[in-house]
Amino acid sequence: MEMRYSRVSGWGKYAPENVLTNFDLEKIVDTNDAWITKMTGIKERRVISEGETASSMAVEATNKALEVAGLTPADLDLIIIASSSPDYLVPAVSSTVQYKLGADCPAMTVVSGCTGFVYGMVTAHQFIATGAYDNILVVGVEVISKFVNWEDRNTCVLFGDGAGAVVMSPSNTSTGVMSFDMGSDGAKGHHLMAPGIGSAGIIDQAMLERKEQYLQMNGREVFKFATRVLPKSTLQTLENAEMTLDDIDLLIPHQANARIIDLAVRRLGIDEEKVFVNLHKYGNTAAASIPLALIEAVEEGRVKEGDKLCLVSFGSGLTWASAVLQWGQPLDNSEEIAQEDLIWDLNSIRTRMALTSTKMRVKARTVLEEASYKASAMMLPLYTFTGRKPPRKLEKKEDTKK
Ligand code: UT7
Repeated sequence: MEMRYSRVSGWGKYAPENVLTNFDLEKIVDTNDAWITKMTGIKERRVISEGETASSMAVEATNKALEVAGLTPADLDLIIIASSSPDYLVPAVSSTVQYKLGADCPAMTVVSGCTGFVYGMVTAHQFIATGAYDNILVVGVEVISKFVNWEDRNTCVLFGDGAGAVVMSPSNTSTGVMSFDMGSDGAKGHHLMAPGIGSAGIIDQAMLERKEQYLQMNGREVFKFATRVLPKSTLQTLENAEMTLDDIDLLIPHQANARIIDLAVRRLGIDEEKVFVNLHKYGNTAAASIPLALIEAVEEGRVKEGDKLCLVSFGSGLTWASAVLQWGQPLDNSEEIAQEDLIWDLNSIRTRMALTSTKMRVKARTVLEEASYKASAMMLPLYTFTGRKPPRKLEKKEDTKK
């Protein structure tokens, strides 16, 4: 069976217009621009406005991605939404997005924190590689501004809202997800959690007072985990692709904290020119972070046809995921047709040559036979003279001539 690859055929991002700078935060909570910049690299983040939701942002990003892919919602075979801050716990935001798009296909939500988008992309690749589906929408979208406690300076300065969407389609050449590495360490789950949301923590008055409906984080533990797992997973996915860091044109890490990225880059020993960072503009947008960075890298011309990208993320769970992604378009079908034509031409040339050589052989035999006949005819008087009969063959020839 012919090998099926996936590829990114469309991409689009959406960041809410409302910008919240570090200086704005100084007015909300006991923090300052100098601390946030030094400790995280973040300068500003986006926050949704009234009426915006995870599904509305996902739809905005998707419409752009579909336009780039030259597709409509009707062309989608599957929708995968990565989000840990959906419109509701039930129904899944993926079904809301499917309805809002007017698509007629299955839809599922991946809830793996910041890692969710890479999980989703790898999942989409499997469906395409097996031939089950053709066009799959993968969106990373978060409205973390609704899930942080704006009185907790440990968390509220870090996060932002946004959405990034890609359409994955089949390819006949080696593009798309070339390898991946995914993992989960649930024993560390409590380091980043919202204890009051879910069946184990149905919210009551006491929990509300403790603000347990919001995200709680042990920053130091998450930092340690991130700086260990980012280089480890990057190297593992490269090994799975039988590649080295030298083969990678652009590393796109989860945009959580510039210090985490710096440390990972130093541990890997990769040239920092090859590392894409845009967290100063958006903060940590969790599952939207990798697609927002990927799409911005593409829009800035940092990604060219054939480039090999490494996406690497970590997040709540605690989880991690990385993938080598080869950027590019499928082989032009007309090239395949041209190749078929060429094969046909070669065959026809061979046939013509065979015909020609048969004709030449026939011609040569005829010439020889005619020459031999003429020579024999010239010998006839001699045969008569000597009383010997002419050879039978010549007699026959004589007969046919009559
Ligand atoms: O997608 C995954 C999401 N999570 C992450 O990526 C988070 C990973 N962790 C981190 O990035 C870091 O742990 C932080 C940037 C969040 C914090 O850095 P840290 O080195 O772990 O700082 P800390 O919490 O130990 O606090 C150091 C100091 C403390 O002051 P003292 O006790 O030394 O006087 C804090 O009170 O910084 C203070 N501090 C702040 N000051 C101003 C903590 N947060 C703030 C703040 N503004 N927002």
